Amino acid sequence: MHADLEIKHTVDPAIDSIVPALECRGLRKSYGHGRVVLAHLDFTLAAGEYVAIMGDSGVGKSTLLNLIAGLDSANSGSILIDGVNISSLNDDAATLLRRQKLGFIFQAFHVLPHLTLQQNVALPLLLNGASPERASELLAAVGLDGRGNDFPRQLSGGEMQRVAIARALVHRPTLILADEPTGNLDPDTAHEVLALLRQEIKANGASAIMVTHSAAAAASADRILIMSADGLHPPAEKS
Ligand SMILES: Nc1ncnc2c1ncn2[C@@H]1O[C@H](COP(=O)(O)OP(=O)(O)O)[C@@H](O)[C@H]1O
Ligand SMILES: [Mg+2]
Repeated sequence: MHADLEIKHTVDPAIDSIVPALECRGLRKSYGHGRVVLAHLDFTLAAGEYVAIMGDSGVGKSTLLNLIAGLDSANSGSILIDGVNISSLNDDAATLLRRQKLGFIFQAFHVLPHLTLQQNVALPLLLNGASPERASELLAAVGLDGRGNDFPRQLSGGEMQRVAIARALVHRPTLILADEPTGNLDPDTAHEVLALLRQEIKANGASAIMVTHSAAAAASADRILIMSADGLHPPAEKS
């Protein structure tokens, strides 16, 4: 009687796990003539995986996120998102992929001050030609139900970051990039925002990379990697 269901459950996860959400192969990025920021970076993010990246200031964490987001380009190496090499795409296709598949969250929120919360969250939907209705749903999901007509100036830092999370997730992106999303928040608010971020990532079945300086924040991810001059590595084991 339940045979259909059982077959489905044994097949689907296997198919989903074949293509990683993100693969960086031999990424090299230097600025100007001398400064090599990423020398030869390899990194794979499984579908549905949530990774935290830590590491000293200036080591190249934001650079890596910017390359993945297509905000900057690598000197060599490749980046595959859902198996597609983004450097093989023309500008239109790359823009489309970014709009549909990526969600960004920044330390400084980047919420637009002259738009209402509803309008801020609806932006990715409008860019994708989708109906803005889901924006209310996401505002409710981040605890801002009924606040859609408020403007960002009426919000606390924690509330602002919750709006940014709603905006980053509203169009159901498959890859979330968060650069120090709790860097401007007090510890209690940070804790709240991280729990919410994780819950929303997992509820959407998205994959995510969060850059953070906080060990407590990193602990909310599935896996922690440390960036150093020779790439990304698991933390040294405590003895
Ligand atoms: N646009 C740029 N031009 C020149 N140097 C840059 C630029 N962006 C970043 N850098 C340099 O690259 C290095 C890595 O920066 P970044 O990725 O922001 O580090 P992190 O996010 O780990 O603190 C730093 O030395 C920084 O000064
Ligand atoms: Mg940075």
